Amino acid sequence: MIREITKNLYYVGVNDNTKQLFENLWPLPYGVSYNAYLIKDKSNVLIDTVEYPFNQEFISQISEVIGDEKIDYVVVNHMEPDHSSSLVQLIDKYPEIKIVGNKKTMDMLNGFYGITSNVYEVKDGDKIEIGERTLSFHLTPMVHWPETMMTYVDGEGVLFSGDAFGAFGSLQNGIMDSDADIKLVTDEMYRYYSNIVGKYGGPVEKAIEKLSSLPINYICSTHGPVWHDKIGYVVEHYLKMARYESEEGVVIAYGSMYGHTADVAKNIYEALIEDGVKNVVLHDLSDVDASFVLRDVFKYNTLILGSPTYNSELFPKVADLTVKLEGRMIKNKTFACFGSYSWAGQAVKRLTAFAERMQWDIIEPKIEIKQAGLDVDVKALSKELAENIINSINNL
Ligand SMILES: Cc1cc2nc3c(=O)[nH]c(=O)nc-3n(C[C@H](O)[C@H](O)[C@H](O)COP(=O)(O)O)c2cc1C
Ligand SMILES: [Fe+2]
Ligand SMILES: [Fe+2]
Repeated sequence: MIREITKNLYYVGVNDNTKQLFENLWPLPYGVSYNAYLIKDKSNVLIDTVEYPFNQEFISQISEVIGDEKIDYVVVNHMEPDHSSSLVQLIDKYPEIKIVGNKKTMDMLNGFYGITSNVYEVKDGDKIEIGERTLSFHLTPMVHWPETMMTYVDGEGVLFSGDAFGAFGSLQNGIMDSDADIKLVTDEMYRYYSNIVGKYGGPVEKAIEKLSSLPINYICSTHGPVWHDKIGYVVEHYLKMARYESEEGVVIAYGSMYGHTADVAKNIYEALIEDGVKNVVLHDLSDVDASFVLRDVFKYNTLILGSPTYNSELFPKVADLTVKLEGRMIKNKTFACFGSYSWAGQAVKRLTAFAERMQWDIIEPKIEIKQAGLDVDVKALSKELAENIINSINNL
Protein backbone atom coordinates (compact mmCIF):
# COMPACT_ATOMS: atom_id res chain seq x y z
CA MET A 1 0.00 0.00 0.00
CA ILE A 2 1.43 3.39 -0.97
CA ARG A 3 0.18 6.66 0.52
CA GLU A 4 1.75 10.09 0.67
CA ILE A 5 1.60 11.31 4.28
CA THR A 6 3.30 14.68 3.88
CA LYS A 7 4.99 15.98 0.75
CA ASN A 8 7.46 13.32 -0.43
CA LEU A 9 7.04 11.21 2.70
CA TYR A 10 5.31 7.94 1.83
CA TYR A 11 3.81 5.00 3.60
CA VAL A 12 5.17 1.85 1.91
CA GLY A 13 4.10 -0.83 4.39
CA VAL A 14 1.93 -3.91 3.96
CA ASN A 15 -1.11 -5.56 5.52
CA ASP A 16 -0.76 -9.14 6.74
CA ASN A 17 -4.19 -10.77 6.79
CA THR A 18 -2.93 -14.36 6.63
CA LYS A 19 -0.83 -14.82 9.75
CA GLN A 20 -2.86 -16.51 12.49
CA LEU A 21 -0.60 -15.89 15.46
CA PHE A 22 1.74 -12.94 15.88
CA GLU A 23 5.09 -14.18 17.26
CA ASN A 24 3.40 -17.58 16.92
CA LEU A 25 1.56 -16.68 20.13
CA TRP A 26 -0.98 -13.88 19.84
CA PRO A 27 -4.15 -14.24 17.73
CA LEU A 28 -4.75 -11.75 14.94
CA PRO A 29 -8.52 -11.55 14.34
CA TYR A 30 -8.10 -8.26 12.46
CA GLY A 31 -4.69 -8.98 10.89
CA VAL A 32 -1.64 -6.80 11.41
CA SER A 33 0.28 -4.25 9.37
CA TYR A 34 4.03 -3.94 9.05
CA ASN A 35 4.58 -0.26 8.41
CA ALA A 36 7.56 1.15 6.58
CA TYR A 37 8.08 4.67 5.29
CA LEU A 38 10.02 6.24 2.44
CA ILE A 39 11.30 9.81 2.39
CA LYS A 40 12.14 11.23 -1.03
CA ASP A 41 14.70 13.99 -0.66
CA LYS A 42 18.23 14.74 -1.88
CA SER A 43 19.03 11.47 -0.17
CA ASN A 44 16.23 8.91 -0.25
CA VAL A 45 15.65 7.28 3.09
CA LEU A 46 13.66 4.22 4.01
CA ILE A 47 12.49 3.82 7.59
CA ASP A 48 12.25 0.14 8.57
CA THR A 49 11.20 -2.78 6.35
CA VAL A 50 8.47 -5.44 6.50
CA GLU A 51 8.29 -9.13 7.31
CA TYR A 52 10.04 -11.41 4.82
CA PRO A 53 7.01 -12.97 3.04
CA PHE A 54 5.99 -9.48 1.89
CA ASN A 55 9.37 -8.37 0.57
CA GLN A 56 8.36 -8.43 -3.12
CA GLU A 57 5.28 -6.30 -2.56
CA PHE A 58 7.38 -4.00 -0.41
CA ILE A 59 10.23 -3.59 -2.89
CA SER A 60 7.90 -3.03 -5.82
CA GLN A 61 6.13 -0.29 -3.84
CA ILE A 62 9.47 1.40 -3.27
CA SER A 63 10.24 1.24 -7.01
CA GLU A 64 6.87 2.78 -7.74
CA VAL A 65 7.72 5.79 -5.57
CA ILE A 66 11.36 6.41 -6.56
CA GLY A 67 11.57 4.77 -10.01
CA ASP A 68 15.22 4.19 -10.90
CA GLU A 69 16.59 6.35 -8.11
CA LYS A 70 18.65 4.70 -5.43
CA ILE A 71 17.96 4.58 -1.71
CA ASP A 72 20.76 6.15 0.31
CA TYR A 73 19.82 4.98 3.78
CA VAL A 74 17.59 2.46 5.49
CA VAL A 75 17.04 3.30 9.14
CA VAL A 76 16.54 0.24 11.34
CA ASN A 77 14.64 1.43 14.38
CA HIS A 78 14.00 -2.13 15.56
CA MET A 79 15.52 -5.50 14.68
CA GLU A 80 12.60 -7.82 15.47
CA PRO A 81 12.23 -9.80 12.24
CA ASP A 82 8.71 -8.48 11.54
CA HIS A 83 10.53 -5.25 10.59
CA SER A 84 14.02 -6.35 9.59
CA SER A 85 13.63 -9.60 7.65
CA SER A 86 13.38 -7.92 4.22
CA LEU A 87 16.76 -6.23 4.68
CA VAL A 88 18.66 -8.89 2.73
CA GLN A 89 16.38 -8.57 -0.32
CA LEU A 90 16.55 -4.79 -0.02
CA ILE A 91 20.34 -4.85 -0.08
CA ASP A 92 20.23 -7.17 -3.13
CA LYS A 93 18.19 -4.58 -4.98
CA TYR A 94 20.02 -1.53 -3.61
CA PRO A 95 23.62 -2.70 -2.95
CA GLU A 96 24.89 0.77 -2.03
CA ILE A 97 22.29 1.38 0.64
CA LYS A 98 23.68 2.38 4.06
CA ILE A 99 22.08 0.70 7.05
CA VAL A 100 21.56 3.10 9.93
CA GLY A 101 21.38 1.77 13.47
CA ASN A 102 22.97 2.11 16.87
CA LYS A 103 25.69 0.01 18.49
CA LYS A 104 23.21 -2.65 19.62
CA THR A 105 21.62 -2.79 16.15
CA MET A 106 25.02 -3.60 14.64
CA ASP A 107 25.44 -6.72 16.75
CA MET A 108 21.99 -7.94 15.69
CA LEU A 109 22.50 -7.09 11.99
CA ASN A 110 25.53 -9.34 12.05
CA GLY A 111 23.89 -12.04 14.17
CA PHE A 112 20.61 -12.27 12.23
CA TYR A 113 21.76 -11.56 8.67
CA GLY A 114 25.58 -11.58 8.62
CA ILE A 115 25.52 -7.88 7.68
CA THR A 116 28.72 -6.06 8.65
CA SER A 117 29.43 -3.69 5.75
CA ASN A 118 27.73 -0.52 4.54
CA VAL A 119 26.53 0.14 8.07
CA TYR A 120 26.26 3.62 9.59
CA GLU A 121 26.32 3.68 13.37
CA VAL A 122 24.51 6.51 15.16
CA LYS A 123 24.61 7.59 18.79
CA ASP A 124 21.82 9.13 20.80
CA GLY A 125 20.96 12.57 19.36
CA ASP A 126 23.01 12.16 16.16
CA LYS A 127 21.67 13.82 13.03
CA ILE A 128 21.85 13.17 9.30
CA GLU A 129 21.06 15.90 6.75
CA ILE A 130 19.20 14.40 3.83
CA GLY A 131 18.43 17.55 1.81
CA GLU A 132 15.48 19.65 2.89
CA ARG A 133 15.18 17.58 6.03
CA THR A 134 17.31 16.56 8.95
CA LEU A 135 16.79 13.24 10.67
CA SER A 136 17.70 12.80 14.32
CA PHE A 137 18.03 9.52 16.17
CA HIS A 138 16.87 8.92 19.73
CA LEU A 139 17.79 5.75 21.55
CA THR A 140 14.83 4.28 23.43
CA PRO A 141 16.22 1.02 24.80
CA MET A 142 13.83 -1.76 25.86
CA VAL A 143 10.79 -0.52 23.98
CA HIS A 144 10.73 -3.58 23.80
CA TRP A 145 14.21 -4.78 22.67
CA PRO A 146 17.59 -3.32 23.67
CA GLU A 147 18.36 -1.78 20.25
CA THR A 148 15.04 0.06 19.83
CA MET A 149 15.32 3.68 18.77
CA MET A 150 13.13 6.35 17.24
CA THR A 151 13.82 8.64 14.31
CA TYR A 152 12.57 12.21 14.12
CA VAL A 153 12.18 14.51 11.12
CA ASP A 154 12.70 18.21 11.83
CA GLY A 155 10.25 20.74 10.44
CA GLU A 156 7.40 18.40 9.65
CA GLY A 157 7.60 16.99 13.19
CA VAL A 158 7.37 13.35 12.15
CA LEU A 159 8.31 10.72 14.72
CA PHE A 160 9.04 7.20 13.51
CA SER A 161 8.39 5.43 16.76
CA GLY A 162 9.05 1.76 16.01
CA ASP A 163 6.68 -0.57 17.89
CA ALA A 164 5.73 2.19 20.34
CA PHE A 165 2.19 3.45 19.62
CA GLY A 166 1.63 0.31 17.57
CA ALA A 167 -1.59 -1.68 17.38
CA PHE A 168 -2.68 -5.00 15.94
CA GLY A 169 -5.17 -4.81 13.08
CA SER A 170 -4.37 -4.31 9.41
CA LEU A 171 -5.06 -0.96 7.78
CA GLN A 172 -8.23 -1.61 5.84
CA ASN A 173 -9.81 1.81 5.45
CA GLY A 174 -6.70 3.91 5.02
CA ILE A 175 -3.52 4.49 6.94
CA MET A 176 -4.36 7.56 9.04
CA ASP A 177 -5.96 7.68 12.48
CA SER A 178 -8.78 9.70 10.88
CA ASP A 179 -9.59 6.67 8.66
CA ALA A 180 -9.68 4.26 11.59
CA ASP A 181 -12.33 2.99 14.00
CA ILE A 182 -10.63 4.43 17.08
CA LYS A 183 -12.47 2.20 19.54
CA LEU A 184 -11.26 -0.90 17.71
CA VAL A 185 -7.74 0.50 17.29
CA THR A 186 -7.63 1.37 21.00
CA ASP A 187 -8.63 -2.19 21.88
CA GLU A 188 -6.05 -3.63 19.51
CA MET A 189 -3.44 -1.21 20.88
CA TYR A 190 -4.24 -2.41 24.39
CA ARG A 191 -3.77 -5.95 23.16
CA TYR A 192 -0.51 -5.25 21.30
CA TYR A 193 0.85 -3.30 24.26
CA SER A 194 -0.20 -5.77 26.94
CA ASN A 195 0.91 -8.82 24.94
CA ILE A 196 4.21 -7.58 23.50
CA VAL A 197 5.48 -4.51 25.33
CA GLY A 198 3.69 -4.83 28.71
CA LYS A 199 6.73 -5.69 30.81
CA TYR A 200 8.52 -2.51 29.80
CA GLY A 201 6.29 0.25 31.19
CA GLY A 202 9.31 2.01 32.76
CA PRO A 203 11.36 2.24 29.53
CA VAL A 204 8.24 3.28 27.55
CA GLU A 205 7.50 6.12 29.96
CA LYS A 206 11.15 7.19 29.85
CA ALA A 207 11.10 7.19 26.04
CA ILE A 208 7.96 9.34 25.90
CA GLU A 209 9.37 11.79 28.44
CA LYS A 210 12.65 11.97 26.53
CA LEU A 211 10.86 12.94 23.31
CA SER A 212 8.31 15.24 24.92
CA SER A 213 10.24 18.41 24.07
CA LEU A 214 10.02 17.69 20.32
CA PRO A 215 7.05 19.16 18.44
CA ILE A 216 5.26 16.12 17.02
CA ASN A 217 2.71 16.34 14.19
CA TYR A 218 2.81 12.73 13.06
CA ILE A 219 3.58 9.52 14.90
CA CYS A 220 4.47 6.81 12.41
CA SER A 221 4.56 3.50 14.23
CA THR A 222 5.53 0.14 12.74
CA HIS A 223 2.03 -1.32 13.36
CA GLY A 224 -1.40 0.25 13.04
CA PRO A 225 -2.42 3.71 11.87
CA VAL A 226 -0.33 6.84 11.49
CA TRP A 227 -1.32 9.25 14.26
CA HIS A 228 -1.97 12.86 13.28
CA ASP A 229 -5.45 14.13 14.23
CA LYS A 230 -5.42 12.32 17.55
CA ILE A 231 -1.83 12.71 18.75
CA GLY A 232 -2.89 14.08 22.14
CA TYR A 233 -5.22 11.14 22.64
CA VAL A 234 -2.70 8.47 21.70
CA VAL A 235 0.17 9.91 23.76
CA GLU A 236 -2.03 10.17 26.83
CA HIS A 237 -3.37 6.68 26.26
CA TYR A 238 0.10 5.21 25.80
CA LEU A 239 1.43 6.88 28.93
CA LYS A 240 -1.51 5.52 30.85
CA MET A 241 -0.69 1.97 29.74
CA ALA A 242 3.02 2.48 30.48
CA ARG A 243 2.16 3.60 34.03
CA TYR A 244 -0.18 0.62 34.55
CA GLU A 245 -3.06 3.02 35.10
CA SER A 246 -6.47 1.59 34.36
CA GLU A 247 -10.17 2.44 34.25
CA GLU A 248 -12.87 1.40 36.65
CA GLY A 249 -13.89 -2.13 35.79
CA VAL A 250 -13.60 -5.75 36.84
CA VAL A 251 -12.13 -8.70 34.95
CA ILE A 252 -13.27 -12.08 36.24
CA ALA A 253 -11.13 -14.83 34.74
CA TYR A 254 -11.48 -18.45 35.72
CA GLY A 255 -10.88 -22.04 34.77
CA SER A 256 -13.35 -24.83 35.34
CA MET A 257 -13.62 -28.47 34.26
CA TYR A 258 -17.01 -29.52 35.58
CA GLY A 259 -18.69 -26.17 36.15
CA HIS A 260 -18.42 -25.69 39.91
CA THR A 261 -15.78 -22.97 39.80
CA ALA A 262 -17.66 -21.45 36.86
CA ASP A 263 -20.78 -21.23 39.05
CA VAL A 264 -18.90 -19.17 41.61
CA ALA A 265 -17.61 -16.92 38.81
CA LYS A 266 -21.16 -16.35 37.56
CA ASN A 267 -22.40 -15.53 41.06
CA ILE A 268 -19.68 -12.92 41.50
CA TYR A 269 -20.40 -11.52 38.03
CA GLU A 270 -24.10 -11.16 38.80
CA ALA A 271 -23.47 -9.58 42.20
CA LEU A 272 -21.20 -6.96 40.62
CA ILE A 273 -23.71 -6.20 37.85
CA GLU A 274 -26.58 -5.96 40.35
CA ASP A 275 -24.57 -3.50 42.38
CA GLY A 276 -24.06 -1.35 39.30
CA VAL A 277 -20.32 -1.85 38.77
CA LYS A 278 -19.28 -0.56 35.35
CA ASN A 279 -17.34 -2.68 32.86
CA VAL A 280 -17.53 -6.18 34.28
CA VAL A 281 -16.08 -8.84 31.97
CA LEU A 282 -16.20 -12.57 32.49
CA HIS A 283 -13.57 -14.78 30.82
CA ASP A 284 -13.56 -18.58 30.84
CA LEU A 285 -9.85 -19.17 30.28
CA SER A 286 -10.56 -22.35 28.31
CA ASP A 287 -12.68 -20.36 25.84
CA VAL A 288 -10.65 -17.23 25.34
CA ASP A 289 -7.02 -16.71 24.46
CA ALA A 290 -4.93 -15.10 27.21
CA SER A 291 -4.12 -12.30 24.76
CA PHE A 292 -7.62 -10.83 25.28
CA VAL A 293 -7.53 -11.33 29.03
CA LEU A 294 -4.22 -9.44 29.25
CA ARG A 295 -5.83 -6.62 27.24
CA ASP A 296 -8.66 -6.37 29.76
CA VAL A 297 -6.36 -6.63 32.76
CA PHE A 298 -4.45 -3.60 31.44
CA LYS A 299 -7.74 -1.81 30.78
CA TYR A 300 -9.54 -2.33 34.11
CA ASN A 301 -8.38 -1.82 37.68
CA THR A 302 -9.76 -4.96 39.33
CA LEU A 303 -8.97 -8.60 38.65
CA ILE A 304 -10.76 -11.59 40.16
CA LEU A 305 -9.17 -14.97 39.44
CA GLY A 306 -10.77 -18.33 40.07
CA SER A 307 -9.35 -21.83 39.79
CA PRO A 308 -10.02 -25.44 40.67
CA THR A 309 -7.23 -27.29 42.46
CA TYR A 310 -5.52 -29.49 39.89
CA ASN A 311 -2.91 -32.03 41.04
CA SER A 312 -2.27 -29.76 44.02
CA GLU A 313 -1.66 -26.81 41.71
CA LEU A 314 -3.70 -24.18 39.93
CA PHE A 315 -5.71 -25.32 36.92
CA PRO A 316 -3.17 -25.09 34.05
CA LYS A 317 -4.98 -22.32 32.14
CA VAL A 318 -5.07 -20.20 35.30
CA ALA A 319 -1.44 -20.98 36.13
CA ASP A 320 -0.50 -19.91 32.61
CA LEU A 321 -2.28 -16.59 33.03
CA THR A 322 -0.57 -15.92 36.37
CA VAL A 323 2.81 -16.54 34.70
CA LYS A 324 1.91 -14.02 31.98
CA LEU A 325 0.73 -11.46 34.54
CA GLU A 326 3.82 -11.88 36.68
CA GLY A 327 6.08 -11.68 33.62
CA ARG A 328 4.58 -8.28 32.83
CA MET A 329 5.12 -6.99 36.36
CA ILE A 330 1.63 -5.51 36.36
CA LYS A 331 1.14 -2.95 39.10
CA ASN A 332 -1.79 -1.27 40.83
CA LYS A 333 -4.43 -3.99 40.78
CA THR A 334 -7.23 -4.62 43.17
CA PHE A 335 -7.51 -8.38 43.43
CA ALA A 336 -9.84 -11.07 44.70
CA CYS A 337 -9.88 -14.80 44.18
CA PHE A 338 -11.98 -17.90 44.50
CA GLY A 339 -11.39 -21.59 44.03
CA SER A 340 -12.45 -25.16 44.44
CA TYR A 341 -11.13 -28.55 45.43
CA SER A 342 -12.36 -32.02 46.30
CA TRP A 343 -9.94 -33.28 48.94
CA ALA A 344 -7.13 -30.79 49.69
CA GLY A 345 -7.54 -27.22 48.46
CA GLN A 346 -4.55 -25.44 46.96
CA ALA A 347 -6.08 -23.03 44.44
CA VAL A 348 -7.08 -20.17 46.75
CA LYS A 349 -3.83 -20.49 48.68
CA ARG A 350 -1.78 -20.30 45.49
CA LEU A 351 -3.78 -17.41 44.05
CA THR A 352 -3.33 -15.49 47.29
CA ALA A 353 0.42 -16.13 47.26
CA PHE A 354 0.51 -14.92 43.65
CA ALA A 355 -1.29 -11.66 44.50
CA GLU A 356 1.02 -11.09 47.45
CA ARG A 357 4.04 -11.46 45.16
CA MET A 358 2.45 -8.91 42.83
CA GLN A 359 1.87 -6.57 45.79
CA TRP A 360 -1.76 -6.10 44.82
CA ASP A 361 -4.55 -5.13 47.22
CA ILE A 362 -6.45 -8.26 48.12
CA ILE A 363 -10.18 -7.92 48.76
CA GLU A 364 -12.02 -10.43 50.96
CA PRO A 365 -13.80 -12.78 51.15
CA LYS A 366 -11.99 -15.50 49.24
CA ILE A 367 -14.70 -17.89 48.21
CA GLU A 368 -13.53 -21.48 48.36
CA ILE A 369 -15.80 -24.46 47.72
CA LYS A 370 -15.29 -28.15 48.32
CA GLN A 371 -16.80 -30.37 45.59
CA ALA A 372 -20.08 -28.73 44.62
CA GLY A 373 -19.93 -26.33 47.55
CA LEU A 374 -23.43 -27.26 48.73
CA ASP A 375 -22.63 -26.08 52.27
CA VAL A 376 -21.40 -22.65 51.17
CA ASP A 377 -23.71 -19.68 50.57
CA VAL A 378 -21.91 -18.58 47.42
CA LYS A 379 -24.56 -15.98 46.62
CA ALA A 380 -24.19 -14.21 49.97
CA LEU A 381 -20.38 -14.31 49.81
CA SER A 382 -20.46 -12.96 46.25
CA LYS A 383 -22.65 -10.08 47.41
CA GLU A 384 -20.21 -9.34 50.24
CA LEU A 385 -17.27 -9.46 47.84
CA ALA A 386 -19.06 -7.15 45.36
CA GLU A 387 -19.72 -4.62 48.12
CA ASN A 388 -16.11 -4.72 49.30
CA ILE A 389 -14.93 -4.22 45.73
CA ILE A 390 -17.21 -1.23 45.29
CA ASN A 391 -15.86 0.28 48.52
CA SER A 392 -12.31 -0.23 47.34
CA ILE A 393 -13.09 1.33 43.93
CA ASN A 394 -14.67 4.33 45.67
CA ASN A 395 -11.62 4.74 47.87
CA LEU A 396 -9.15 4.77 44.97
C1 LIG B 1 -7.19 -33.93 36.86
C2 LIG B 1 -7.73 -33.45 38.17
C3 LIG B 1 -6.87 -33.17 39.22
C4 LIG B 1 -7.36 -32.74 40.45
N1 LIG B 1 -6.50 -32.49 41.47
C5 LIG B 1 -6.99 -32.14 42.69
C6 LIG B 1 -6.11 -31.95 43.82
O1 LIG B 1 -4.90 -32.08 43.71
N2 LIG B 1 -6.64 -31.63 45.02
C7 LIG B 1 -8.00 -31.49 45.18
O2 LIG B 1 -8.45 -31.21 46.30
N3 LIG B 1 -8.85 -31.64 44.14
C8 LIG B 1 -8.38 -31.97 42.92
N4 LIG B 1 -9.24 -32.14 41.87
C9 LIG B 1 -10.68 -31.94 42.08
C10 LIG B 1 -11.15 -30.56 41.62
O3 LIG B 1 -10.34 -29.55 42.10
C11 LIG B 1 -12.57 -30.33 42.15
O4 LIG B 1 -13.41 -31.39 41.77
C12 LIG B 1 -13.16 -29.01 41.66
O5 LIG B 1 -14.42 -28.82 42.23
C13 LIG B 1 -13.33 -28.98 40.14
O6 LIG B 1 -13.84 -27.74 39.80
P1 LIG B 1 -14.71 -27.56 38.47
O7 LIG B 1 -16.04 -28.25 38.68
O8 LIG B 1 -14.85 -26.07 38.36
O9 LIG B 1 -13.95 -28.17 37.35
C14 LIG B 1 -8.74 -32.57 40.62
C15 LIG B 1 -9.61 -32.81 39.56
C16 LIG B 1 -9.12 -33.24 38.35
C17 LIG B 1 -10.09 -33.53 37.22
FE1 LIG C 1 8.91 -5.65 18.21
FE1 LIG D 1 6.82 -5.01 15.61
